[in-house]
Amino acid sequence: MDFQLLKTDNSARAGVLTTAHGAIETPIFMPVGTVGSVKAVTQEQLRADVKAQIILGNTYHLYLRPGLEVLSAAGGLHRFNGWEKPILTDSGGYQVFSLAANRKIKEEGVVFQSHIDGSRHLFTPESVMDIQRTIGADIIMAFDECPPYPSEFHYARKSMELTHRWLDRCIKRLAETQPAYGHEQTLFPIVQGSTYKELRTISATEIAARDCAGNAIGGLSVGEPEAEMYDMCGLVCEILPVHKPRYLMGVGTPWNLLENIALGIDMFDCVMPTRNGRNGMLFTWQGVINIKNKKWATDFSPIDPETDCFASNNYSRAYLRHLFAAGEYLGLTLASIHNLAFYLQLVKACREQILAGTYTAWKTRMVEQLKTRL
Ligand code: GUN
Repeated sequence: MDFQLLKTDNSARAGVLTTAHGAIETPIFMPVGTVGSVKAVTQEQLRADVKAQIILGNTYHLYLRPGLEVLSAAGGLHRFNGWEKPILTDSGGYQVFSLAANRKIKEEGVVFQSHIDGSRHLFTPESVMDIQRTIGADIIMAFDECPPYPSEFHYARKSMELTHRWLDRCIKRLAETQPAYGHEQTLFPIVQGSTYKELRTISATEIAARDCAGNAIGGLSVGEPEAEMYDMCGLVCEILPVHKPRYLMGVGTPWNLLENIALGIDMFDCVMPTRNGRNGMLFTWQGVINIKNKKWATDFSPIDPETDCFASNNYSRAYLRHLFAAGEYLGLTLASIHNLAFYLQLVKACREQILAGTYTAWKTRMVEQLKTRL
């Protein structure tokens, strides 16, 4: 994997990340395809309409279903789901804590029960690396513990230290194994430390010292005030190496992207554009729309004239509201495509502003506009 930093504008950065399945222009937003599918959207729509450059998958879900036998027989996730561009898989170090039942954390790993059928499983740093070899994503995440918010200092410190020990086991296991399908897989370690500056400083310093090709920040957007997220992110970005991509996990709203790009983040993922879209929340260049609201019943203007995709331009707010009121599947698809296309166009606009050296003032203006409730 290669990362070229093309330009910095204050702390904001524009770059190109090159993987075995192609290049990614940063800053980038990565649509979430938990089980190998971005909900309600086809791969063709992701390519042609959303213009996604990389998508996410989840180790926890893919391991439980379809399982490693099927993924291995398919020749990996790229072949299985027909997405030939880059894929990143999260390690399960978050889903195991948010979804699984009866989980028990030990030094060795995490014992948990499947949310699907209650079956018992053990994830260790080693097994999670092996699973991600079998899935075959281009970027794979270290196995970590994401502590809840708020966490006591003592718990957050113990948890962070465990994440660091697990990271060293991940690095060792990867060095001992080979990619299953011949293409390179790159490990991103994850900075933890809850909302404690002292812990974030230690974690970022430890993670930077591992000298991995890219780095991630976890444990944020878990219920803390936005100001605390920005504080932690800014502090960590000051410590992580400049010439490596920085990925902020699970974030966030359009304005969260803009603020965190200003702090030096290059990559984001979040279920918000798809999950909130399926609930009728649309993000537009003018602000946020609840499409279920009666006020849109006879608004025949496009969903968002400023987002360039067929869903946004060719379907009216009134029609989309009707689809939601009638419980039609097409509503879920159009809302998801629109929101994802908007997110991808938003980060593209950020990139252009950074390259032009005009990001900071533009960002301040845009944040207010994007937060407007229409
Ligand atoms: N997704 C959002 N936050 C996190 C995190 O802290 N760890 C992992 N593995 N995934 C995440």
